Amino acid sequence: MKVEVSPSLLAADFRFLDREIKQVSTSGCKYLHFDVMDGAFVPNISFGVPVLASLAGNYPLVFDVHIMIKRVLKYIPAFLAAGADIVTFHYEAFRKVEQIKKAVAMIHSAGKKAGISIKPHTSIEVLSPFIKELDLVLIMSVEPGFGGQKFDPKALEKIRELKKLIAANESQALIEVDGGINEITGPQARKAGANILVAGSYLFGHDDFQARVEKLRGE
Ligand code: DX5
Ligand code: ZN
Repeated sequence: MKVEVSPSLLAADFRFLDREIKQVSTSGCKYLHFDVMDGAFVPNISFGVPVLASLAGNYPLVFDVHIMIKRVLKYIPAFLAAGADIVTFHYEAFRKVEQIKKAVAMIHSAGKKAGISIKPHTSIEVLSPFIKELDLVLIMSVEPGFGGQKFDPKALEKIRELKKLIAANESQALIEVDGGINEITGPQARKAGANILVAGSYLFGHDDFQARVEKLRGE
């Protein structure tokens, strides 16, 4: 099954962002993964709205924005206004299902796609109440907060479980997998049912970017 690749900008050389992003689109990728970290939900700070606003709309790429932040409802409007095409927030940032549905509705009312991400220790079952409303589920195969970590193989069973939940609920949600994706774990995730593979350190910083993308896509 064909998968798409969403390179994670967190691993790019920020001295040359334009060049780095151009190689993403010339290598045939449809998506650019934009990791937002607030230093509160995760123990790291990356980049945010001003950087997104300066980049979005300038490249033929879907801006796949992964917000690892505490105050999701407060900041969704800013990421939408800055040009996010997909906004994926974390299940663990909420306590009530109604609030999650509110976040999804906010994103949809802007005509954009809504995703939810779950950390490695969060089970697939928690997604049942809103799986039908989601456009994407992001399965973290590492603890969110940093690139360059090791893929947790327990994610493979979660991908298979999620695929069943999506089918059982006639959901249109895509399955995206994020963290430690490389030439070994990428094909494993693809075989388990992933539709989109996020990769940072496996792609950026290497002179065979396109060949690496093709390895992940199984070409
Ligand atoms: C981690 C981020 C991931 C990470 C991927 O919190 O959500 O997108 O940047 O980087 P690699 O592919 O190096 O694990
Ligand atoms: Zn991410």
